[in-house]
Amino acid sequence: MYSEKVMDHFEHPRNVGEIPDASGVGTVGNAKCGDIMRMYLKINDDGVIEDCKFKTFGCGAAIATSSMATEMIKGKTVAEAEKLTNAAVAEALDGLPPVKMHCSLLAEEAVKAALNDYREKQGKAE
Ligand code: FES
Repeated sequence: MYSEKVMDHFEHPRNVGEIPDASGVGTVGNAKCGDIMRMYLKINDDGVIEDCKFKTFGCGAAIATSSMATEMIKGKTVAEAEKLTNAAVAEALDGLPPVKMHCSLLAEEAVKAALNDYREKQGKAE
């Protein structure tokens, strides 16, 4: 049912934890199941994501997608990270079962929420 990559990221999630002096923090809930995810981003003066960590009260698919999402945005610019989609994360994991696609939304939305928080802190909120 789950790809090897999903199982790998579920069993050995990357970047779990929190960043005390994060540049942006985003917390989102999944409307479908009520699970929660918090994403921490450390962004340097050049707008590059130097570090990111996440915490989740979510299912295995949410853990695996968040883990993959943090790997995909680390070292990227804010503009690049904004383009991250849950479909791209799911694809990087060699797919998710259709009933678990909604779980991957948590990762995308948490990244976006953390980026918004970063912008607000920078005084660049729209
Ligand atoms: Fe809630 Fe997967 S069942 S995130």
